[in-house]
Amino acid sequence: MRAFYVTTPIYYISGNPHIGHAYTTVVADVLARTARTDGPAFFLTGTDEHGQKVANAAAAAGQTPQAWCDALVPRWESLFHAYHVHYDDFIRTTQARHATKVQRVFERLRERGDIYLGTYEGWYCVHDETFWLESRLVEGRCPTCGRAVQWISENDWFFRLSAYRDRLIEHFRAHPQWVRPRSVYNEMMAILEEGLDDLSISRTNFDWGIPVPDGGGVIYVWFDALLNYITAIGWSEDDARFHTYWPATVQLVGKEIARFHTIIWPAILWALGEAAPETVFAHGWITVDGQKIGKSLGNAVDPFALAERFGADSMRYFLLREAPFGADFSYSEAKIAQRHNGDLGNDLGNLFRRSLTMLQKYREGIVPAGSGPSSSFGARFGDLPARVRGLILDLRFREALEAIWELVTALNASIDERKPWVLHKEGRNDELDALLYDLAEGLRRVAILLHPFMPERMGEAWRQLGAAGAIDDGWQHALGVWGGLAPGTTTHPGDLLFPRIELAAAP
Ligand code: MSP
Repeated sequence: MRAFYVTTPIYYISGNPHIGHAYTTVVADVLARTARTDGPAFFLTGTDEHGQKVANAAAAAGQTPQAWCDALVPRWESLFHAYHVHYDDFIRTTQARHATKVQRVFERLRERGDIYLGTYEGWYCVHDETFWLESRLVEGRCPTCGRAVQWISENDWFFRLSAYRDRLIEHFRAHPQWVRPRSVYNEMMAILEEGLDDLSISRTNFDWGIPVPDGGGVIYVWFDALLNYITAIGWSEDDARFHTYWPATVQLVGKEIARFHTIIWPAILWALGEAAPETVFAHGWITVDGQKIGKSLGNAVDPFALAERFGADSMRYFLLREAPFGADFSYSEAKIAQRHNGDLGNDLGNLFRRSLTMLQKYREGIVPAGSGPSSSFGARFGDLPARVRGLILDLRFREALEAIWELVTALNASIDERKPWVLHKEGRNDELDALLYDLAEGLRRVAILLHPFMPERMGEAWRQLGAAGAIDDGWQHALGVWGGLAPGTTTHPGDLLFPRIELAAAP
């Protein structure tokens, strides 16, 4: 059986990580956590350490590129750790396991005639590490980042990208879902229809990169970087581990690098005799004042401070709930606070607190027997786990969260409608038991379903509920009929799950 394989871009370590880098990695984490509940899954992230951009950053800091990278990598690892990301592997392109295989790929493609020697003259943007046709420049500047481009003229190795154009077009037509969202698919199709030039894949004007085997210069950073997705899982044609995971199930990227991943990357794979990934999803940007975060240092937000202030799980919730996946969305502390205090604090946190408090008050904290599978909740929300799972794996995170909130809302409504304090006062004990049971069982389900999104907070909810077993085993067994929470379970009410956060009033 093929396993689930999800990747993020490997990040340039030319500076400190920002919230945009945390974003893609958190999304991959939600996918991987969900996939892992149903079978083997592998989640890869890492750092892109070669190229002129990183070399320039190191030089500006007065360090060798290697020393600079070694010093920065721990910041990326700790960022992902701070956001409760559980990856299976973290690849660095300066590792020997990667570099030797990139050279092997280069040799292989050269033997096959897909790589040849030619002369390159043209425009180059260092910030985006991208070659541009003169016709694509905007007022003489890089069309993606707006920075000045430089003229480069050198003898380079070229990858015969143009030879793959027809196959790419056919592949796009045959697999209309392979590039998502549709807007990016259309944009890539338009590029293909315009025509493709061969790609220069070596550089001789600087030396921070993987050396071209038996030749001068270093391998172009994008050719090097893209290969991480297969070198990390042990590429070579006859490697069993590689074939367990490749082709990748989902490759997540920001939309600005869709072209590399949906045009250049499949062509390299085909040249090697390997398959294209199943899906490339090119998501939107987090913006501030309409500008992509990261474009300038001015709007780079410290992601560590945000996790500290709002809680990493609230940040994760915000990032996945705020916009449909694919669309841009703007970031502000007020918006995060609103999600944290509203959805998480009021809807979910209060429900949790009220339910455990009532259990404490009326039943000494012990979960009573409920009406079991005949509970109206069972019928209404029986298919919720399958729905949520399907939505997550289809990368519709916001809809998945909205579906979970239908249950949260229904549980809140049941307290208002069935008025447990009246039931208690009137001695209607069976009805009170049934309600208290539904609340506890409902919350246990909410915790399981939300666990991929908020692993730490839902782990705490699980503990307070006193639920048996591991929360991430829950999807398969604990989400069957309404009634998985054993009557007699002792709850352990504790601190509020999402304590209110007050923002200082604007001056
Ligand atoms: N090193 C290349 C990728 C090579 S992959 C073989 C690169 N690195 S990067 O450091 O610039 O990271 C880009 C990625 O970070 C984006 O594609 C996206 O996944 C994430 N983001 C960076 N800024 C972001 C936003 N402002 N908003 C959303 N995602 C952001 O490109």
